[in-house]
Amino acid sequence: MSASCSGGVPLGSVIVKGLILAGGAGTRLRPITHTSAKQLVPIANKPILFYGIEGLAAAGISEIGIVVGETGDDIRAAVGDGSSWGIKVTYILQEVPLGLAHCVLIAKEFLGNDDFVMYLGDNMLEEDLVALVDRYREDRCVGEIDCRILLKKVDNPSSFGVAEIGPGGRVIRLVEKPADPPSDLALVGVYLFNAEIHRAVRSIRPSARGELEITDAIQWLIDEGRTIDFNTLDGWWIDTGKKDPLLECNRTVLDTIDRQLDGEVDANSQIEGRVRLGQGSSIINSTIRGPIVIGDGVVIEDSFIGPYTALGDGCTVRASEIDNSVVLADCTIDHAGRLTGSLIGRSTEIIHSTRHPPAVTLMLGDHSVVEIP
Ligand code: TTP
Repeated sequence: MSASCSGGVPLGSVIVKGLILAGGAGTRLRPITHTSAKQLVPIANKPILFYGIEGLAAAGISEIGIVVGETGDDIRAAVGDGSSWGIKVTYILQEVPLGLAHCVLIAKEFLGNDDFVMYLGDNMLEEDLVALVDRYREDRCVGEIDCRILLKKVDNPSSFGVAEIGPGGRVIRLVEKPADPPSDLALVGVYLFNAEIHRAVRSIRPSARGELEITDAIQWLIDEGRTIDFNTLDGWWIDTGKKDPLLECNRTVLDTIDRQLDGEVDANSQIEGRVRLGQGSSIINSTIRGPIVIGDGVVIEDSFIGPYTALGDGCTVRASEIDNSVVLADCTIDHAGRLTGSLIGRSTEIIHSTRHPPAVTLMLGDHSVVEIP
């Protein structure tokens, strides 16, 4: 990066830290979150969290703190020390998910007084973070801004944290899930802070839902006369914390993949469009209509796999149809009819019932959702 501050300090050295929030209760993605971290659910066969790490690394962030909760061991196993991305990762344990501002509170030792980017580990953005982070680096060089947030116009602002913009083009108020929204600008899960945020998170009190809210902390900065600026996001932004947005995100990312066939395809099969087929996988007497990602060691036989499906490593699909779905690793789907709009956890078996008279037999975890025709 060639740009520099007025004192000759390279811009790239102005913010070097990131804080990714990967704890939380994940209630809206149960039962998947009973046994694994929602941030590790794959989008186009890559964990959601990895997209965030890659985005921060590309923006020149070299030290990332990851806040983890109960699923911390899985996250540590998947991310390691960060060396695969050329970054250094520090894990920060949040014993109870007490809110986004609580994450900043417990990360103080890692953050020190440095400027940092905070990123919600289950959020996905189309735009890369380079321009946003560089803009904040420039703001901080001239000392004008304390906090920069990212906003996106949405149709249903009552479901989000919402910003009110004053006549001077500055953020003057933030409200969490307002019944009467002051604008249609929702807060996206990426925030740029300087050390003032630490005073804010220490000063606020828990909200009615018992959490230290980041909107309250930013509002505290505003009330203290601090300057909050914003960027409006043009590209897509998806909070993948629920099944349908997660499938939407999977479709959006699958739309960008290239065709690459590393597995075996027999003469009776058709592979149509952009399909990525992993190593050691075999397609037998089947039609695969992209965009689709299929992992390694997958067997598909006598089946139709339709657009916007991601099948994890080690799955077996026989005599079934699947489209618009995310299937995690090691599942067996055999004579299962047609599956659509589904999110299926690891090592699940969906098989044909031979009961007479016909009946559905289930063994489901808590909070599972099944739609039967
Ligand atoms: P949310 O999706 O807002 O909260 P949640 O994970 O508790 O989910 P749900 O509402 O379905 O129960 O969290 C956004 C991100 O921040 C997500 O990656 C989890 C993380 N997070 C923490 O790390 N600690 C927390 O205390 C909270 C609330 C969230």
